[in-house]
Amino acid sequence: MKILAIESSCDETSVAVIENSSVLSNVIASQHFHAEYGGVIPEIASRAHLQAISGVTGAALDQAGLSLEQIEGIAVTKEPGLAGALLVGSNFAKGLALKLGVPVVPVNHIEGHIYSACIEGAHISFPFVSLVVSGGHTALFHVESYDKYEMIGSTIDDAAGEAFDKIAKMLGLPYPGGPVVDRLAAAGDPSRYDFPRPLLHSGDLNFSFSGLKTSVRYFIRKNYPSGAEGNDLNDICASVQRSITGVLAEKSFRACREYGVKVLVTGGGVSANSELRRRLSENKMGLDIHIPAMDYCVDNAAMIGFLGEKRLLEAAGGGYDDLTFRVSSRAIRA
Ligand code: KG4
Ligand code: ZN
Repeated sequence: MKILAIESSCDETSVAVIENSSVLSNVIASQHFHAEYGGVIPEIASRAHLQAISGVTGAALDQAGLSLEQIEGIAVTKEPGLAGALLVGSNFAKGLALKLGVPVVPVNHIEGHIYSACIEGAHISFPFVSLVVSGGHTALFHVESYDKYEMIGSTIDDAAGEAFDKIAKMLGLPYPGGPVVDRLAAAGDPSRYDFPRPLLHSGDLNFSFSGLKTSVRYFIRKNYPSGAEGNDLNDICASVQRSITGVLAEKSFRACREYGVKVLVTGGGVSANSELRRRLSENKMGLDIHIPAMDYCVDNAAMIGFLGEKRLLEAAGGGYDDLTFRVSSRAIRA
């Protein structure tokens, strides 16, 4: 089936075209201007989605070599995310579905991230453990099929990406901080500062990053009241990164051990982190690791279309003619 997929849950307007689980196009327009405010401003994000969505859709169809009339189904992110931003995508999707007379499948954004590694790896076999790690979410899932998964751990406070971003802000670095910390850490000594690795030995699969954030705040206030620079800044970034990625990797390995699973996949923007990628790849458990390409790690419509097509095929085309479904900012199907 030829599926047009739309993702607008946060600060990326993305439209993709999927056919038979293959990505024909995946256009992502990022709202970089939020950097000016040090974080995403919901109202501005919604307006920017409105401005971008038609053009991004045209570009996705062009790249796929298809016209709008050839589209047989629409998939759209329904939850979770910024309500106003989600509304832009879902209303656009409903309008298109009405015009074309095709079904529209609402897709959960986190489910998109859970299975995003499968887009490129048709050979990834179930069951697997999926680490979803982004600016808004940090959780582990035990995944048995495209329909059946269970959340087996999650953050009890901040998401890992949020910790990267907030700590970067304390260090005077631009938003989003994760990629900047990653770059600066490459030239730093990760063993110079021993920041906490919260819940590392908690015996469960949950995460917590709020204590680390507070500890770095006090550390900077005490040791670098007028700001860290040069090697000191590199070393702080490397040490913070070691703490965050150490916990993410260890908990993922623990999940695989506890569930007797040999396959570990990741999704979400923080999977782009070079130290996390290295730690996961160098595991000593013989795990089969799948980390998606960057365009499938960050928020993207391909992951929404990939699942949307599966849902439509399962339903044999029926059951997706409801144009009254509502977006939700928080929902996650656990
Ligand atoms: O998945 P995503 O694009 O959007 C959300 O759903 O949140 O993830 C964005 C998050 C931001 O917090 C950003 O700082 C983080 O991913 N990120 C990184 C890296 N690249 C992006 N964090 C650490 N290292 C990176 N290389
Ligand atoms: Zn996301």
